[in-house]
Amino acid sequence: DKGDFEYLMLKEIYEQPDVFERILKERLDDTFIHFPELKFGKEYLARVGRILIQACGTSLNAGMIGRMYLEQFAHISAETDYSSEWRYRNPLASGDSLVVGISQSGETADTLAGLREAKAKFMRVLSFLNNINSTMARESDAMISLMAGPEIGVASTKAFTAQVLNLLFFSLYVGSIKWLMPAEERRTVLDEIRALPDKMRTILKSHERIKEIAEFLKDKNDTIFLGRTYNYPSALEGALKLKEISYIHASGYAGGEFKHGPLALVSQNVPVVIIAPQGEIRTKMISNLKEAQSRGGKIISIITEGDEEIKRESDFYVEIPPCQESISPLLVAVPLQLLAYYTAIARGCDVDRPRNLAKSVTVE
Ligand code: F6R
Repeated sequence: DKGDFEYLMLKEIYEQPDVFERILKERLDDTFIHFPELKFGKEYLARVGRILIQACGTSLNAGMIGRMYLEQFAHISAETDYSSEWRYRNPLASGDSLVVGISQSGETADTLAGLREAKAKFMRVLSFLNNINSTMARESDAMISLMAGPEIGVASTKAFTAQVLNLLFFSLYVGSIKWLMPAEERRTVLDEIRALPDKMRTILKSHERIKEIAEFLKDKNDTIFLGRTYNYPSALEGALKLKEISYIHASGYAGGEFKHGPLALVSQNVPVVIIAPQGEIRTKMISNLKEAQSRGGKIISIITEGDEEIKRESDFYVEIPPCQESISPLLVAVPLQLLAYYTAIARGCDVDRPRNLAKSVTVE
């Protein structure tokens, strides 16, 4: 049921603040994080030394952000890979490794095969799943429910942000078992998380500005998305969203890799989306912006409210409310989803049923 929305995808984008409130209510009380459905005990989680995240598409992009959370907040070394690669390269098993699968549907063929590969090698498997009645739910050693509610639009939106949020909570949870974070710092992060639903609502109000950018993008054939550290996966996800529903070619790169090849693509007709919220890598992103601009590239930037310096340098910009850099991918996701959506609409595409794609990829 689309309700008042033209497409399910738009409805699901707008549901995100409510999904976040639901997850917050379930997972967080005062300063304690809860995973009632998680079958692993604290003694086991405290001993995990390495996490291997395997997933496909958008779920892998969420996993790449989760990897940084695990390193930052749980001090566990973590790696990510496409399930389709992981399963075929005879991955190394070691006693303290935990394999994490991430999937909206719980039925994706490669992710399921990766899970089975892990179990065959006597590694334990934890799955982050939206569909908790799925094959992966039955076959995993333990499961975390994403609680995004049913996602019907082919392009993943609320499942993506729910994946990132649950990975963040999981990392903080494991960190708390190991007493890794000073109370003050922990309180600050939790307050930042509590503020997310209202900040998302603020961003959703900027849809008119995003529609203008979509009008500009709709006639382009190629686009580039750049981000670094926490927002490198945001760049990959922004590009994936745009290409899958608008059929405009889009590639995401880590900002530091730009000069090593992709910069050659930039011209008047190849706009560059610069993800540059406040934080440590902001100045590096300004360097990327200037590299693109001096080659004639039109700049669309995603910035923190009031960043006059980047606004002046940009052809278009979208603002997000101030937040910690590590949390910013959860806000950055929203304008990128809307940008893909309105660009696809401006091109007359059926966003809920993009050509050639299926919601659940149950064959290799
Ligand atoms: C893109 C998208 C896909 C899925 C991928 C994995 O918007 O939806 O890239 O993320 O097919 O699907 P799940 O999460 O169901 O395993």
